[in-house]
Amino acid sequence: MSWQIRKAVPSDFRWLVHVDAFAENDHGRRRQIAKAISKGECWVASDADDTAAPVGYGCLDKSFFGEWFVSLVVVSDAHRRRGVGRKIIAHLEQCSAAEKIFTSTNMSNTPMRELLAQLGYQSSGVVENLDPGDPELIFMKILQQ
Ligand SMILES: CC(C)(COP(=O)(O)OP(=O)(O)OC[C@H]1O[C@@H](n2cnc3c(N)ncnc32)[C@H](O)[C@@H]1OP(=O)(O)O)[C@@H](O)C(=O)NCCC(=O)NCCS
Repeated sequence: MSWQIRKAVPSDFRWLVHVDAFAENDHGRRRQIAKAISKGECWVASDADDTAAPVGYGCLDKSFFGEWFVSLVVVSDAHRRRGVGRKIIAHLEQCSAAEKIFTSTNMSNTPMRELLAQLGYQSSGVVENLDPGDPELIFMKILQQ
């Protein structure tokens, strides 16, 4: 299957809420997605043969100390482990056109940690006390020397 990445448009919102099981029950996440779409900070992944039906999305902004930051990457349960997450992050790296890029995830999130290791991200610190007992790990990748 060939995955295509494009900038999200308002009509993608209902798909992204469907793709992201957490968003279905969390008003804050839905607000975050809507805001990212409206600010042009959200990209969606879809099958190249069905671009109107996203299977994953990623958000990129400069909210992290003014640095480029991948704030969310989500792939639908049904489409995981097919390279979609990898393709989304690689696309966001290109979009940033930056020297370095940051992201973060919970220590407990093995899929995301493995994905970031595979893409060459390095550890860049730990934030305690966000989720009790599950520190937030910061990661960084050098994109251009
Ligand atoms: C993390 C997430 C985005 C990965 O998406 P994905 O499309 O399944 O990832 P990919 O298929 O591109 O995987 C690339 C690599 O990541 C690693 N990986 C992905 N899922 C993994 C898992 N469940 N266990 C171990 N390693 C995993 C592997 O190294 C994999 O390469 P391989 O398949 O060749 O072994 C997906 O699991 C997800 O949406 N999780 C819920 C949301 C979330 O936690 N997002 C991250 C924080 S915002």
